[in-house]
Amino acid sequence: MSKYRIAWLPGDGIGVEVMEAARIVLDGLELDAEYVHGDIGWEYWCTEGDALPERTIKLLENVHAALFGAITSKPVKAAAAELAPALQGQGLSYRSPIVRMRQLFDLYVCLRPCKAYPQNPLNFKEGIDLVVFRENTEDLYAGVEFSPVPDGIRDSLSSHAPAFQAFGGLAGDDYAISCKINTRKGSDRIIRAAFEFAQKFGRKKVTVVHKANVVRATDGLFLETARKVAQDFPDIAWDAANIDAMTMWLLKDPFNYDVLVAPNLYGDVISDLCAQMVGGLGFGCSGNIGKQLAVFEPTHGSAPKYAGQYKVNPIATVLTAKMMLDWLGELEAAQRIEDAVATVIREGRVRTYDMGGSATTLEMAEAIAGQLTGRRAA
Ligand code: IPM
Ligand code: MG
Repeated sequence: MSKYRIAWLPGDGIGVEVMEAARIVLDGLELDAEYVHGDIGWEYWCTEGDALPERTIKLLENVHAALFGAITSKPVKAAAAELAPALQGQGLSYRSPIVRMRQLFDLYVCLRPCKAYPQNPLNFKEGIDLVVFRENTEDLYAGVEFSPVPDGIRDSLSSHAPAFQAFGGLAGDDYAISCKINTRKGSDRIIRAAFEFAQKFGRKKVTVVHKANVVRATDGLFLETARKVAQDFPDIAWDAANIDAMTMWLLKDPFNYDVLVAPNLYGDVISDLCAQMVGGLGFGCSGNIGKQLAVFEPTHGSAPKYAGQYKVNPIATVLTAKMMLDWLGELEAAQRIEDAVATVIREGRVRTYDMGGSATTLEMAEAIAGQLTGRRAA
C-alpha cells in the first residue's frame, strides 16, 4: 500500500489538461502516492443528474487528500436544459460540486496564497506576497435561496423585518432571496486560522475584510469575532477594511497587506484580484481545507474556449499540488516543486501563451519536472 491515497479529480475542460501536467511534475518526485480517479463534472450532471456522484463522495471519504482540476458551472435554468431527456422534469437542480464538497466535508478554510515569482512578466509588481484566507462553507454560499419566494418566507420577513415592507407586496416570482448566513463558529475558525498562519510564518499583519458599515448583522458579527480572536494573538498586528475600499487599496499598495481574511463571497472576489496581481489565472492556486480532508484546486475555471488545446498555463495547478504536499507534511517535496517553478519562471525560456510564449501545457510541466532538484523522496 502506498503512503498516500490521493483522489484525482480532473473534472471539465482544461481541468483534464492541467491535471495531466501536474501529474508529470508529481511523478518527478517519486512520492509514495496512489492517485485514484474520481468522476466529477458537467458530464455526470447531464447523464446522471449529479455532477458529484455518490461514488465520488465515497472515494473522498477514503483518501488523504484530493487534487481537483476545474468544473463547468451554469445557472439553474441552463443546467436543467442540458439534462438527459429521461432526467428532465424530476426537479433535479444543479449545485456546483466544488461548493458541495466544501460543505459536505466541512472544508472551512479556503487558502489562496498569491506570490509574485521573480521575473514573471505578468507580475503586477515584483515582490507581492499575499495570502488570502476565505471562509468556505457559509455566507452567501450557504445555499439557502428562494426563487420564487414562498408565502411563508414573505410573511415571516414581513413580521420580523421593517425594511422588508419595500418588497412585501411583490408576487413570489417577481423577486428572489439569497440568504447570507454567517455563524460565530464559522467566523471564529477562519479568522483564527489566518492569525495562526501569520504567527507560524512570521507574517507582519492580518487584514479583516468586511462591509460591516452596511451589512451590519452578518459582517458585524464577523468583525466582532475578529476583535475577539485578535486578543488571543497580541503579537500579531491587524486591521480591518471594507471590501470595496480594499480592492482599491490592494491595487494602490499591495505591499501594505500580508494575510487577508474574509467571509466567503468577499474572499472569492479578493482572491481573484490578488491572483491577477501575481500573473492571473495561470498562477492562482488554492486549497479547501478541513480537519479530516483537504481538496486542492487551481482558482481558475474550466475555460471551455481553450479546452482540448493544451495551451493553458499549468503553473496554478502545479503550485496547487505543492500546497497539497505541504498539507500532507511533505515539506521538502513541496519546496522542491516551488523552487522548480520559480526557476522556470525566472529563466523565462519556457513560457505559455499567457506569459507571452508558445510552450504547451505539457511542455511547461516537463520544464518544471526537469528542474526538480535535491534529494529524492524515499
Ligand atoms: C472559486 C470559484 C467558485 C466559487 C465557483 C466555480 C463556484 O469562483 O473557487 O473561487 O465561487 O467559489
Ligand atoms: Mg472565484
